[in-house]
Amino acid sequence: MVSASATGRVAGKRVLITGAARGLGRSHAVRLAEEGADLILIDICRSLPQIDYPLATEDDLAETVRLVADLGRRCVSHIVDVRDEAALRAAVDDGVAQLGGLDGAVANAGVLTGGPWHETTSEDWRIVVDVNLIGAWNTCATAIPHLLEQGGGSLVNISSAGAIAGFPLQTPYTAAKHGVIGLTLSLANELAAHSIRVNSVHPTGAHTGMLPDSLGKALGGERSDLVPLFINAMPTPCVEPVDVSNAVLFLISDESRFVTGLQFKVDAGVTIN
Ligand SMILES: NC(=O)c1ccc[n+]([C@@H]2O[C@H](COP(=O)([O-])OP(=O)(O)OC[C@H]3O[C@@H](n4cnc5c(N)ncnc54)[C@H](O)[C@@H]3O)[C@@H](O)[C@H]2O)c1
Repeated sequence: MVSASATGRVAGKRVLITGAARGLGRSHAVRLAEEGADLILIDICRSLPQIDYPLATEDDLAETVRLVADLGRRCVSHIVDVRDEAALRAAVDDGVAQLGGLDGAVANAGVLTGGPWHETTSEDWRIVVDVNLIGAWNTCATAIPHLLEQGGGSLVNISSAGAIAGFPLQTPYTAAKHGVIGLTLSLANELAAHSIRVNSVHPTGAHTGMLPDSLGKALGGERSDLVPLFINAMPTPCVEPVDVSNAVLFLISDESRFVTGLQFKVDAGVTIN
């Protein structure tokens, strides 16, 4: 589809989103496109043996691309594993060449393992840290050269309310998402002089495909005493993906032009319990 002239809160901005095939990533893509952004969309589009729920498919990514195109925005998509820095860099460079530059990136791809500490394996740690923390680093690292060229930009790293609250029964995930805070703050300090802002977003539960059986079993069984830690203070069991995407939109937009190093909670109060 021919790109319509951009209007909206992020009109004409070119933004990279990882984990864009479904769930929150698709929602960020649609919300940013509604407000005039052109997009580079990345997803692994295959399931991983270490993760006990299916990840997105090529059809899912194609559907996100269709939704963005229907909004009249330009969109480049690539099937890439964010753990593969070289492949990610090649995909981002290609997208930037096609769109003519880069103004922001959303490190959104993530995976979750659940279970009590005594069932947690070093394999759980490796996959979760690799995707959620090193994958976020790879996303930032491949975007930064383009943002420097642009004279500034916005990096948004999707963490979790669990990183702030210390959610149990998902120790590798909670730790990796806490690591995302450190990554964000460190880069925010290092890149402020270049007008590159770096912020993290911390959602409470939202209905997406991220539903490990292992977490449900642990919470529904021997550690049901921990359920209250996951209950929001506000009267809603979960937020909608668009609630998280609205925070992403604000952080990508110039409305937040002097906001950096922020932990932006979209958590219905789960961390103030
Ligand atoms: N859903 C929630 O309740 C919730 C709460 C807090 C934080 N988050 C975070 O939000 C982000 C999006 O999660 P979601 O809820 O939409 O889950 P989801 O499983 O529906 O979507 C995650 C997407 O990331 C992709 N992905 C996974 N590993 C990848 C890899 N190695 N390389 C590239 N793509 C990969 C998947 O294919 C999928 O499309 C994640 O970082 C997640 O940790 C989600």
